[in-house]
Amino acid sequence: MKNFDITIPTRIIFGRDTEKQIGELVKEYGFHKVLIHYGGGSVKQSGLLDRVKASLHEAGICCTELGGVQANPELGMVRKGIQLCLEEQVDLILAVGGGSVIDSAKAIGDGAGNPETDVWKYFQKEAVPVKHIPVAVILTLAASGSEMSQSAVITNEESGLKRGFNSWTHQPLFSICNPELTYTVSKFQTGCGTVDIMMHTLERYFGWTKDSALTDRIAEGLLKSVIEAGRIADQNPEDYEARATLMWAGSLSHNGLTGLGREYLMQIHQLEHELSGMYPRIAHGAGLSALFASWARFVCPAAVDRFAQYAVRVWNVEMNFENPMATALAGIQATESFFQSLGMPVSLQELDVEPSKFEEMAEKCTNFGTRTLAGIRKLDKKEMIEIYQMAYLR
Ligand code: NZQ
Ligand code: ZN
Repeated sequence: MKNFDITIPTRIIFGRDTEKQIGELVKEYGFHKVLIHYGGGSVKQSGLLDRVKASLHEAGICCTELGGVQANPELGMVRKGIQLCLEEQVDLILAVGGGSVIDSAKAIGDGAGNPETDVWKYFQKEAVPVKHIPVAVILTLAASGSEMSQSAVITNEESGLKRGFNSWTHQPLFSICNPELTYTVSKFQTGCGTVDIMMHTLERYFGWTKDSALTDRIAEGLLKSVIEAGRIADQNPEDYEARATLMWAGSLSHNGLTGLGREYLMQIHQLEHELSGMYPRIAHGAGLSALFASWARFVCPAAVDRFAQYAVRVWNVEMNFENPMATALAGIQATESFFQSLGMPVSLQELDVEPSKFEEMAEKCTNFGTRTLAGIRKLDKKEMIEIYQMAYLR
């Protein structure tokens, strides 16, 4: 086990009706002016936005609002939010939505907290935020784990670059997680969420540190629970226990717990961010699903035992001691079939991605020739293109 250092200071308020506490919670923390940030309309349709506003009003909290965050959130919206926060002297940003809304809120918090610095510089890793306006969350979609993570991912719509960075400023102050709010999430987005939750743990599991027995077992338990809950939520969107499992697993999968003591770099996430950066219509989870099996088959020869362990422990594949590679490949196949059963794409062709773009995507993924991706198998630009091609022809 590698040395580690962990604090996860986000307060989680979990369960039925918890969003009703929003007004009292904001009052308890002593905030006065809240920016309510939300997406393209689901919170209006469900009536959640009105209920949130009423609760804040009842607690005597002033609000302003900014809706319209699109999936794969953009820098232009972040800039709008920064200006609004400064004009209105906002002291808390309340994200009501999924990962896109939360990430947009985090970036607004960075920008409004440090108005002298252009916010995109943080995503380019040219500056580090030192102050921020805090973010609180009412989560409506179990997927990104942003409600408990230090990451934020934003697309610069002018360059098509989707970039993320980690910062203590991104740790939400509190997140309200009511699984019932996810009953209205479509079958497709439920599938995307299930894939994303699994991938946050899988990408850590397939890092390159070997000795991490406890972390392995935590990861395998989470994966098995998510597979079961994902199947149930796909068939019965109003199954509370399944939605609750997905929601809590989503937070645990990306808050550091399932990678403790391990070294990893999320290669599939890096490859996917170039995909949804250039094609904003592609949902993050769908992009991950289309890339996973090709990536796994490509790197598997460098870590056959690990992939075989995954197959045996998570998918109950019988170990073939004479041919461990067969066991490893069976685990990859089982994952791919599961994603397919949720209606998720398993090739880039299904996502209408043009192969002529692979070279540009790989160039961007190397940060214009300045990095390779560390992993159980290191990936350079040529290998990234190979994986994109494999995922296309699959
Ligand atoms: O915009 P609205 O109308 O709200 O609709 C959204 C959106 O169209 C809809 N939705 C959300 N809650 C709903 C609902 N529809 C019905 N009922 C509800 N209760 O779902 C659609 C997708 O929402 P989005 O927020 O984009 O999805 P997700 O949570 O998967 O977030 C994706 C973004 O998060 C980033 C991704 O790259 C992507 O940009 N990620 C952020 C991470 C982080 N900050 O830690 C880590 C992840 O790996 C990921 O990269
Ligand atoms: Zn993800």
